[in-house]
Amino acid sequence: MKFSTSNLTLPRIAKQATMRLYINVDHVATLRQARRATEPDPVAAGLECERNGADGVTVHLREDRRHIQDADVRRLAAEVTTVLNLELATARAIVALAVELRPHQATFVPERREEITTEGGLDLATEATRPGEPLRRAIDQLQEAGVRISLFLDPDTAVLDYAARLKVAAVELHTGEYSNATGALRDKALARLRHAAAHAKAAGLAVHAGHGLTYENVKPVAAIPEIEELNIGHSIVSRAVFVGLGQAVREMRARIHEAR
Ligand code: PXP
Repeated sequence: MKFSTSNLTLPRIAKQATMRLYINVDHVATLRQARRATEPDPVAAGLECERNGADGVTVHLREDRRHIQDADVRRLAAEVTTVLNLELATARAIVALAVELRPHQATFVPERREEITTEGGLDLATEATRPGEPLRRAIDQLQEAGVRISLFLDPDTAVLDYAARLKVAAVELHTGEYSNATGALRDKALARLRHAAAHAKAAGLAVHAGHGLTYENVKPVAAIPEIEELNIGHSIVSRAVFVGLGQAVREMRARIHEAR
């Protein structure tokens, strides 16, 4: 069955508050993998986030499996009661797993083996010239499986126009430049995010944002009216070390709420 972009807005997503907070629990898996042990369990962490007000759980199944493992995604797909947002690149085995598990949302991200974390948004112009167009194929496969598609992109209007032509439901604006900047450069990066969010929304795309957001810098981004979903991981898991995961989630929710 072919899905159009309009019916990819899942009822469970539509019913939620105007700003959704999805929590990325990769960092919990990173701690587990440091010892190749069984704890801490990222699935239990995801469920704890849900119990404390998260609207969804995000994980990135990387090709090098450095943190989240296939078994984690399988368990999350079975146990998450809100929304599972799976970040992935176009590796065939991972796309096949996503088609099998049908997370509520799949966010395509670029991946380079040597990077510490996702460094930039997808380069859609380059993706379009790759032999076999693996991104286009993966989007089609997942949309046919009923999965809502988001693309992780730099806040650049030309790239967003490209995304609109790909007929995906959403884009996630990369907030890394904003998060890494200070002073006037941060203001400039924020203005770029605002402009990109308005541009994407006008082009018919739902607007998400994430990467490097913290308790300290989240409010100006959460205040951008077109943005309806934030994906935050590192800052929340870092704070959880001191106050517990539930409290860390509630504090981030409160910050976002204050900004809207
Ligand atoms: N969004 C995307 C697409 C990401 O790749 C990441 C990092 O895994 C995040 C959001 C969350 O970033 P952070 O851990 O810095 O909050």
